[in-house]
Formats: sequence, C-alpha cells, structure tokens
Amino acid sequence: MFLSARLRLLLPLTSLTLLVSATAKLRDGGNFNLLPFHIDLSPQLPHLKSLVQQTQLPEKALYATGPEKGMQLDVLKELKSEWVGSYDWDKEQEQLNSVSHFTAQIENITVHFVHEKSENPNAIPVVLLHGWPGSFHEYLPVVKPLTETSSTGISYHVVVPSLPGFSFSSPPPLNWTIDDTARVYNTLMTQVLGYEKYALHGSDWGSGVGYSMYNSFNTSVRASHFIFLPFLPPTATEIEANNITLTDDEKFSVARTEEWWTNDHGYFLIQGTKPNDIGLALYDNPVGILAYVGAEVLRWSDPRAGTPPSLLNSTNLLTLVSLYHLTHTFLSSVWIYAQNANVLSTVYTKALTDAPMLYTQYKYNLQFWPEEYVAKVGNLVAYNAHDFGGHFPGLDNPPALIEDIRSMAKYFKA
Ligand SMILES: *[C@@H]1O[C@H](CO)[C@@H](O)[C@H](O)[C@H]1NC(C)=O
Ligand SMILES: *[C@@H]1O[C@H](CO)[C@@H](O)[C@H](O)[C@H]1NC(C)=O
Ligand SMILES: *[C@@H]1O[C@H](CO)[C@@H](O)[C@H](O)[C@H]1NC(C)=O
Ligand SMILES: *[C@@H]1O[C@H](CO)[C@@H](O)[C@H](O)[C@H]1NC(C)=O
Ligand SMILES: *[C@@H]1O[C@H](CO)[C@@H](O)[C@H](O)[C@H]1NC(C)=O
Repeated sequence: MFLSARLRLLLPLTSLTLLVSATAKLRDGGNFNLLPFHIDLSPQLPHLKSLVQQTQLPEKALYATGPEKGMQLDVLKELKSEWVGSYDWDKEQEQLNSVSHFTAQIENITVHFVHEKSENPNAIPVVLLHGWPGSFHEYLPVVKPLTETSSTGISYHVVVPSLPGFSFSSPPPLNWTIDDTARVYNTLMTQVLGYEKYALHGSDWGSGVGYSMYNSFNTSVRASHFIFLPFLPPTATEIEANNITLTDDEKFSVARTEEWWTNDHGYFLIQGTKPNDIGLALYDNPVGILAYVGAEVLRWSDPRAGTPPSLLNSTNLLTLVSLYHLTHTFLSSVWIYAQNANVLSTVYTKALTDAPMLYTQYKYNLQFWPEEYVAKVGNLVAYNAHDFGGHFPGLDNPPALIEDIRSMAKYFKA
C-alpha cells in the first residue's frame, strides 16, 4: 500500500518514519531515511482535467506565424484536446512506476530518484542528471537498456535523481546553488547508495551540477559525459578568430546557438530575474505550462520529433508537462535560474581532476562548444557528434544516448 506522492511530501518527517518502519527491510542508507517511493498522482487528475477543459483559447490565430514566434495555436489546441481526450495518465503513471523509485533525506532536502540495478554485480554506477524544463522522465527510455549487458560486456547501475524543487524532490532554501546540489548528489551516490566510484552524464542544469561534481569530487567521479556545459559558448566570430574549422553540422549548430541568443532566451532572463512572475502565473495553469514549456521542448529538439528514433511525441510531451503541474513544482523549478545567476562562466578553467571527460554534440542542441573549447575545461578523451537529436536526447535519440553513455565504460577505472 502506497501513500499518494503528494500526501507523502506533505507529511512531517516523524510520521513518515513511523509509517514506513514496518517496511524497512531494505538497507537503511545510513541516517538518510531511504524509502521506496511509488508515484500516485491520480487523485490530482480531475483538477488538472477540469482546468484544461475550462481553459479558453482563441478561435483562430491572431497572426499567421510559424514556431519562430512561439507556441502555435493549432499545435496547442491539438495537444489540449488530446490531454482531455485520449491521453491516459494512469497508463503513463504505470510506465513511470515501471522503474524503482526512492526518496532519501540529505541535508534537509527530500531527494527523489530512480535507481535500477544491473544484474551484473560489476556494473558501473552512473548518475544521469536532467535540467529545465526536463525531469527524471526524459531519461526513462535509457534506464533499463543501460542496466542490460551490451554486446561488448558493458552494463550500468543507473541512478536518476530529480533536481531539488523538481517533481518529487523538495524545494531547496533560497540561497541554494548547483554546487550544493552537486554535494548532495555525491552524498547520494557514495553514502546513501554505497557507490564509492561512479560515472555521470549531464545535460542543461544537470551539466552544471555534473561539472561541479566532476570538479569537486575527483576521487568518486571517475568518468563524465556531457552534452552541455556551464561555460559561455563562443560566438561564430570568436570561433573564426581562433582558426577553428567546423564541419557542416557544426556550422549549423553555431547558427542555432546564435539564434538562441538572439531570439530564444527570453525565458532565461525572466526566470533569472523575476521567477515569481512566471512561476506564479503558470503555477496552477496546465495549458499555460503546456504553451510555454511545450513550445521550448519542441524548438530545442530535433524537428523530426516523434519519428524513429525519436520518442518525443505528444504523449511524452504531455507527461512531461503533467508532471510539472501535478507535483506543483513549476514555480520551484524556474527558481533554479534566479538561484544560479551567471551560471555560464566566461572563464574556461580546467577541472581539478584526472578523470576522463567525454562530450557529444547533438546537431539540434541549443548551444555549441567546439572541441577546442571543451578540451579547456576537463580531461577530454572523446568528442563525438550525432546528426539526429537535440537538447533532450533521452527522448529524441535514446539509442545514441545509450551509445554515448556506454562509451564512458572503457575509460572508467574502478
Ligand atoms: C532544516 O529544516 C528545518 C525545518 O524546516 C529547519 O529548522 C532547519 O534550519 C534546517 N536546517 C538546515 C541546515 O538548513
Ligand atoms: C543558507 O541559508 C541557511 C539557512 O537557511 C544557512 O544555514 C546557510 O549557512 C546559508 N548558506 C550560505 C552559503 O549562505
Ligand atoms: C589564425 O590564422 C592567421 C593566419 O594564418 C594568423 O595570423 C593568426 O595568428 C591565427 N590566430 C590564432 C588565434 O591562432
Ligand atoms: C508515443 O510514444 C509512446 C512510446 O514511447 C507510445 O506509447 C505512445 O502511444 C505514443 N503516442 C502517440 C500519440 O503516438
Ligand atoms: C583532486 O583535486 C585535488 C585538488 O582539490 C588535487 O590536489 C588532486 O590532485 C586531484 N586528484 C585527482 C586524482 O585528480
């Protein structure tokens, strides 16, 4: 019997402890109150559906624009009718629960995470780090495959934590930064789960957290893979001035980066400066979250979304957005921008570690760092590229992400 996820978060720690003491057969994870966790947001669903149903949208678009001006009305209308129509939350929730979930208390934060162990006892522990507007959900397509032994004998014990303030992890204090999250995650891996040495993969804010872990915990983080970095990417002019030659796909990615800085980072400025404005406006507004977050997810992904190998179709998009609404975390999620001003460092410093770092450029990602720049910040051993996929490869190119993460294995030294 499981408590509803929402209820569980609201319960004070003491009653939680009493409630679960009977089931505490698992390792106790030290004093971290490690508990199995089951998602049950179904009681929230009628509220979500009625809000979606009651939301009025314009009959026809004010101007005939494409996605370059933001969410398109016809796309939004289609998603909205699917949400109250054929979309089946219970079925999606069952999928989310098909992996094992846990919570632990670390430094006053309730950390929610997925943990799937490989049957191979010598599997490499790996932690997969998501960003905004993502969640643990974006990695689910790669979790089980990574636990299985590949044709070259590689397997992983996979951990996917929710950032503090996202999904089922509790919101952190006001002064919390990604370095604090990095410390908490290292505690999760080493002390709660007992993985003394592990690998990591990071994207978006998860790359900021992951890079901090790579830099600060050099005895435990023994390989890392990134698709994004917490450094200001160079402009096309800077790349040229440095005589760096690019492939055609890389030139495309540079243009995409410039486009993001010119026309697509308004959200970044709002969330960094006035997180309450957008956070409260959309807090209990599911169609609003869908318009805002959905448009970004689509713009930042491969335009072939939904066609193989991409799993980024309307169902997965609605699940991602439903999670933000049903867990009431849209507000706390946008605060990460305000809590980490100047996250993109202008100074390229080398991490204090000899652990290998791998980097992959997905053609449709929203920022691009040439190999020469990536090599400045870590012990770069491999720089790869995929011509399919964007900012959320766990959804829009899972086979490629599996390949990337597996490619860390030959560099990992336990
Ligand atoms: C932990 O949370 C409790 C209750 O919210 C608070 O009183 C305490 O100051 C917090 N401790 C730290 C170290 O933030
Ligand atoms: C952040 O605030 C907490 C109290 O909420 C305090 O204990 C802690 O020292 C502060 N940390 C920093 C880095 O200022
Ligand atoms: C780039 O190449 C030009 C012409 O060969 C040379 O003058 C310049 O110093 C080079 N710049 C860098 C940063 O290597
Ligand atoms: C989207 O893909 C998932 C598999 O990831 C599938 O279960 C679902 O039916 C698809 N949705 C649509 C609308 O095709
Ligand atoms: C780890 O970092 C420390 C500095 O904090 C450095 O002295 C040490 O050489 C590093 N160790 C490894 C294995 O990279």
